[in-house]
Amino acid sequence: MVKVAPSLLSANFACLKDDIEKIENGKADWLHYDVMDGHFVPNISIGAPVVASIKKVCNVPFDVHLMISNPLQYVEDFAKSGADIICFHAESDSDIGQTVDKIISLGKKAAIAVKPGTDIDVVLPYLDKLSMVLVMTVEPGFGGQSFMESTMPKIEKLRKINPDIDIEVDGGVNPETIKIAAKAGANVFVAGSAVFKSENPAKTIKLLKENALSVL
Ligand code: DX5
Ligand code: ZN
Repeated sequence: MVKVAPSLLSANFACLKDDIEKIENGKADWLHYDVMDGHFVPNISIGAPVVASIKKVCNVPFDVHLMISNPLQYVEDFAKSGADIICFHAESDSDIGQTVDKIISLGKKAAIAVKPGTDIDVVLPYLDKLSMVLVMTVEPGFGGQSFMESTMPKIEKLRKINPDIDIEVDGGVNPETIKIAAKAGANVFVAGSAVFKSENPAKTIKLLKENALSVL
């Protein structure tokens, strides 16, 4: 199923509630929530307490993308704050198997993210336990970068191995690049600037979904 997950990173942090309402009214499927620790990636963004606050005013599932060096140490905080899907990077310092098991033991859906240069094979031993794999289509750390088409073969390979798992793309997704990712086999589309910097976020979400479906 095609899902669009607007990335809160591109929202106006002075009016988060307004921006969240815009995407909820626009039928966003998930809210994508980027956590950066200033170590795994150069930026620092937002943490678990903000998840807990937003959860009170937002009814769509929270897709938490941890761009942090030690996810194992923090997954419990995010689970308690209201994350629904917890995604961490294969390149982090935490043990992958232990982190997946911990997320599942907390009653949450587990996902693994891979950077553009990371082989997709790294996720294969855990596929049975995962609800999703995130194939980054930019180097993690910043919104507003250009979509890297060179990552598509990883999606094609994974889709062949598992026809049912959610495959998410994140970075540079817009109404044009979404078609490339959908054709390759992705079905969950994160969009930050494309949604929040557009004049009408609801219309943009609708267009993204239509364009993804148009190539299937
Ligand atoms: C990048 C983040 C993305 C980012 C996407 O490291 O993981 O979720 O917000 O932003 P856009 O859609 O503007 O590339
Ligand atoms: Zn992200």
